[in-house]
Amino acid sequence: MAKKSIKITIVFYSRYGNTAQVAEEIAYGAKAHPGVSVAMRRIPDIGEPQDVVARKDWTKLAEDLANKYPTVPVDDIIAELPSSDAVIFGSPTRFGNMAAPLKVFWDRTAKLWLEGSLVGKVGAVFTSAASVHGGQETTAISMMFPMLHHGMIIVGVPYSVPELSESGSPYGPSRIVGRLANRPIDEADTKVARALGSRVAEITFKVA
Ligand SMILES: Cc1cc2nc3c(=O)[nH]c(=O)nc-3n(C[C@H](O)[C@H](O)[C@H](O)COP(=O)(O)O)c2cc1C
Repeated sequence: MAKKSIKITIVFYSRYGNTAQVAEEIAYGAKAHPGVSVAMRRIPDIGEPQDVVARKDWTKLAEDLANKYPTVPVDDIIAELPSSDAVIFGSPTRFGNMAAPLKVFWDRTAKLWLEGSLVGKVGAVFTSAASVHGGQETTAISMMFPMLHHGMIIVGVPYSVPELSESGSPYGPSRIVGRLANRPIDEADTKVARALGSRVAEITFKVA
């Protein structure tokens, strides 16, 4: 019998809060469906050079983020995934790829892989990047590789979401944050992110 309630876990890395904002909008879209609970899990700064936070205003952004979303130990996140019906992964774009902390996270999931714990679970990805063609799509796609190795069913954003012409890509929501990582999230970013959350919820109800 189909489940009446589902749990979606959003696992994300974020240094200055921009990727976290996309996670919030995805959660909002998912929770619009009755019976959906969303767990937000921010990955610690594992493998991240501390001098990435070099500017004073960036330090403030990082502090605000830490207050809002304290990081969760990777082992605790990994332990939680088998009981999640869907898992959505987010990372800033780093040289056209996922940030090191998310890659480190994946490299610690061998036990999940051996046990097939994620096989058949619904998943999706999202990112943020400084510039217009900064590698959002390559990042989104590279984030899918480990998910496919784990047997996940990946959900993207269809062009029936009109705002997809202005923000994100069919591979997942992404937003442009500007060189100083301080550009506010806009309406199209929000709509695409919410649409993904909603779609993951709908499909998970069918699959779970
Ligand atoms: C080491 C490093 C590499 C980056 N590489 C890219 C890149 O390839 N393309 C791009 O547009 N932005 C790049 N950025 C900018 C980040 O994507 C941007 O600051 C990030 O999306 C902010 O997300 P956050 O606020 O969640 O940390 C890079 C930033 C750092 C620190």
